[in-house]
Amino acid sequence: MANHEEIKAKINSLKTEINRHNYRYYVMDSPEVSDAEYDALMRELKGLEERYPQLVTADSPSQRIGAAPAEAFGVVEHPYPLLSLGNVFSKDELIAWYTRISKLLEVTQFGFVGEHKIDGLAVALTYVNRRLTTGATRGDGSHGEDITRNLRTIRSIPLSLPREAPPRLEVRGEVFLPKTGFHRLNQERAAEGQPLFANPRNAAAGSVRQLDSSITARRPLDIYIYMMGYAEGRATPATHWETMEYLQSLGFKVNPNNRRLADIEQVEGYYQTWKERQAELPYEADGIVVKVDQFDLQQRLGDVGREPRWAIAYKFPATQGTTLLRDIGINVGRTGTLNPVAILEPVTVGGVTIRQAALHNEDDIRRKDIRIGDNVIVQRAGGVIPEIIGPIESKRTGKEKEFSLKEKSREIYRAKRGLTKETKTPNNTICPECGTEAIKPEGEVMYYCSNAACPAQAQQRIEHFASRGAMDIRGIGESQSAMLLREGLVKDASDLYYLKDKKEQLIKLERMAEKNATNMLEAIEKSKERPLARLIFALGIRHAGEEMAEVLSREFHSIDKLADASREELLSIPTIGPKIADSVIAFFQEEENRRIIERMGEVGVRLGVRSAEVRAISNTTGDRSGQVWDLAEALAAVSRFTAAVFVR
Ligand code: IVH
Repeated sequence: MANHEEIKAKINSLKTEINRHNYRYYVMDSPEVSDAEYDALMRELKGLEERYPQLVTADSPSQRIGAAPAEAFGVVEHPYPLLSLGNVFSKDELIAWYTRISKLLEVTQFGFVGEHKIDGLAVALTYVNRRLTTGATRGDGSHGEDITRNLRTIRSIPLSLPREAPPRLEVRGEVFLPKTGFHRLNQERAAEGQPLFANPRNAAAGSVRQLDSSITARRPLDIYIYMMGYAEGRATPATHWETMEYLQSLGFKVNPNNRRLADIEQVEGYYQTWKERQAELPYEADGIVVKVDQFDLQQRLGDVGREPRWAIAYKFPATQGTTLLRDIGINVGRTGTLNPVAILEPVTVGGVTIRQAALHNEDDIRRKDIRIGDNVIVQRAGGVIPEIIGPIESKRTGKEKEFSLKEKSREIYRAKRGLTKETKTPNNTICPECGTEAIKPEGEVMYYCSNAACPAQAQQRIEHFASRGAMDIRGIGESQSAMLLREGLVKDASDLYYLKDKKEQLIKLERMAEKNATNMLEAIEKSKERPLARLIFALGIRHAGEEMAEVLSREFHSIDKLADASREELLSIPTIGPKIADSVIAFFQEEENRRIIERMGEVGVRLGVRSAEVRAISNTTGDRSGQVWDLAEALAAVSRFTAAVFVR
C-alpha cells in the first residue's frame, strides 16, 4: 500500500481538481467534464477519505455542496440547509442503502416515494402570509442567491397561495428547461452566433441567474416542487406522499410521474421502467430519487454531513463522457449529403463503446469550435446517434487542426484512390467516394454529391430502405447491401424484391449459404406488408423523416396520390413547408424513382393504406369527421400502380 504522504498528495490533487470543476459548474455554468467523470472523481475522494478519516478537512469539496454564490445577487440564508443527495448506481448499491437504513430503524417494512431526478437547478420558495416573498438558489446549502425577481417570471410558480395555506411555508423544487425549450433556445443562440448551452441544466441555471429578469421571462422555464422545507401555523401531513398531494392542492406543480412504492422491489421496478423510457420524458432526468415516505422515519434516520440518510439518488447509466477527437471523416448519406463524422478514441459511456459521433455540418463544427485533436465531450441521448457537445478548450496543446470540408473531401478521395497530392481533382468540395463535385443548394447548410449514380449513395439508400424504422428487412445491413451491389445482384431497392429469382447466385455469396439466403428472402417477402408511412420513409425522400412520412401517409393514403400532389396541395398541410414540398415534387419528378416504385408495386409491395387504417385515421383526425370511408373509396384513393395487390 502507498504511504501516508502519497495518499495525502492524491487527496489534495483530487480536491484541487474537484474544486476547479465545482467553480466551472456552479459559478460559470460552463463545465469542463461530464457529470460521470465528476462523479468518479468525487467517489474516489470520498473513498479515500472514508479509509483515512484523519485526512478529512473542513474545506474538502466532499464536505459541502456547491460553490459560493455569485456576488451580484443578494444573499439569502436558508433557515434549514438545502441538502444534497448520495448516489447509487446499481441494484446492489440500492439494496445496501436499504439494508443500512432498515438496520438503523430496526424495521424492514416501510414505504417509499419514487421521483424523477430532473436535471435542473434547486430552488427554495418562501411564502409569508401566503405571498411569495423569497426565491433562492441552493448556493452552498446554507446560503443561496436571492433570485426572487427571476423566479416570479416562471408561470408555474404561484405568487400567492389560497387562504388555507400555512402562514409561513417554504417549499423546494427543481427549475428546469424542457427538452424542446432547450433545443429552441440553442437554435436561437446558434442563429445569433452566441455560444450554445451544453445541457438543459446549464441552460436553466444560466436563465435563472440573469441579472436582467426580462431575459429570464423569455425562457420557457418550468418547475416541479419535490419537498416541503418547513411549515408554520398549520398542521401538515405525516408522509412525504401526502405532503406532495397537499402542496399540489395549494397550487404547486408536482411531477405526475411520482409514485408511492410499497417496498424496495417496487423501487427497482420504477427505476427500470424509467431507465428504459428516459427518452420519452419532456425533460432531462439523470436518475430517480428514492425517499422514505414517513416523516417520523425520516427524522429518526437524520443526516450524515450534507446528505439525508432517508433519501438517495439512483442514477441512470451515464450518457456523457470525454475523449480524443482523432479525426473528422465524411460519410456520404443516402440523399448524397456529405456528413462530417467524428472519429473518436473509443470511450465507454454508460456501458456502450462510442467510436464515432455525428457532427451535423461544417457550420456547426465551426460554431462549436471543434478541432481535430481536441478533447471533446460526447453525449449519448436516448439511444440515438452520439453527439459531440463541444471541445474542452483548457486541454488544447496548440497542435489541433481546424476542419475544412473542402480539404478533407479531397484528402479522403485521394487516399482512397492512392493518388498523390499533385493529382488533378477539381479545386472544390468533392464527393469523397466518387470524386464528383459537390454542390450546396442556396439556403441549405449541407453539401450534396451531385452524382445520382454515386455508389456510396446507392449503398446507403438500400441500407436505409431495409433499416428498422423503414421496411425493417432483417439481415440486410451495411455489409450485405454493399455486397449485393458489388456483386451486381441489385442496383436499387426495388431489386431486393426480385432477388428470389436469383437465389442460386445469392447462395454463392461470401458467408451466405442456403439458410441465410432463405431467411433473407423471407424477410424481404414479409416487408411487402409494411404500412405506407414506412414505405414513404424508406424511399428516402430528402427532408422526409419518420414523422413527416406519417403525415404524408395520413394525408394522401397512397403513393399514387402523393406522387400526383401539387405544390399547393402539399403546402396546404400545416406541418409541410416549402422545403419538404419541393423535395417531394422533385423526388417524384425523377423518372428513376417512379420506375422503382412501379417495380415494387408489380410484385406486391403495399403502396396504400388499408381501409381499416383509413377509417382509423379519419377517426383520429378531427378534420374528416362525419366522412365515411369504405373499401371501395379507399381503393379508389389507392394506387394506379397496383390497386389489385391491395385487396387480399
Ligand atoms: S430531494 C434532501 N428530489 O438533486 C433531498 N432532489 O443532489 C434533497 N433534484 O439539490 C433533494 N430532482 O437539485 C430531490 N425529485 C427530486 C429531485 C431533486 C432533482 C436535485 C436537486 C437537489 C439534487 C440533489
